[in-house]
Amino acid sequence: MTSEYFVVRGAVEHGDERGRELGFPTANIALRDQAGSVGDGVWAGWVRRADGTHVPAAISVGRRPTYYGADGYRLLEAHLLDFAGDLYDETLVVWLGSHLRDQEAYASAEDLITALKSDIAAATQWAAAHPAAALPAVEESAPGEVRRLVG
Ligand SMILES: Cc1cc2nc3c(=O)[nH]c(=O)nc-3n(C[C@H](O)[C@H](O)[C@H](O)COP(=O)(O)O)c2cc1C
Repeated sequence: MTSEYFVVRGAVEHGDERGRELGFPTANIALRDQAGSVGDGVWAGWVRRADGTHVPAAISVGRRPTYYGADGYRLLEAHLLDFAGDLYDETLVVWLGSHLRDQEAYASAEDLITALKSDIAAATQWAAAHPAAALPAVEESAPGEVRRLVG
């Protein structure tokens, strides 16, 4: 168990819509530091919407090596659990709570989907055990900056 969180704030951008095709739509947030790797991986966490509500999520931070090799654009992608709706242009705050695994280059979309299903199951369990009310408070940060919080 860790009391360390990473937090990212930013506006949701349009992706290439592949997430929808795969059956796992994501809210994409551009990361400021394209050269870095702080927070890279797949996480269980929480998303706070502009209206103040919290939604649990399975979150990917990194370059999506399955599709873009090692040089892909570095971004955060949150798949909100049990959520249907339009998040484009909304500013979200994303807490990365529990590191589930590193990003992998999968041999096929099917293999990625299998991994996503297990990430979602893990994120569901983690969120049930770590309610949003217990999240550490966040200070203002620059859009797309990955900030480490220890609390
Ligand atoms: C929980 C989660 C885990 C992911 N893990 C990986 C991964 O290990 N490797 C990878 O290449 N992409 C990973 N992705 C990113 C997917 O490739 C991406 O969501 C998909 O390509 C859709 O991109 P789009 O939203 O720009 O259309 C992950 C996404 C999520 C939400």
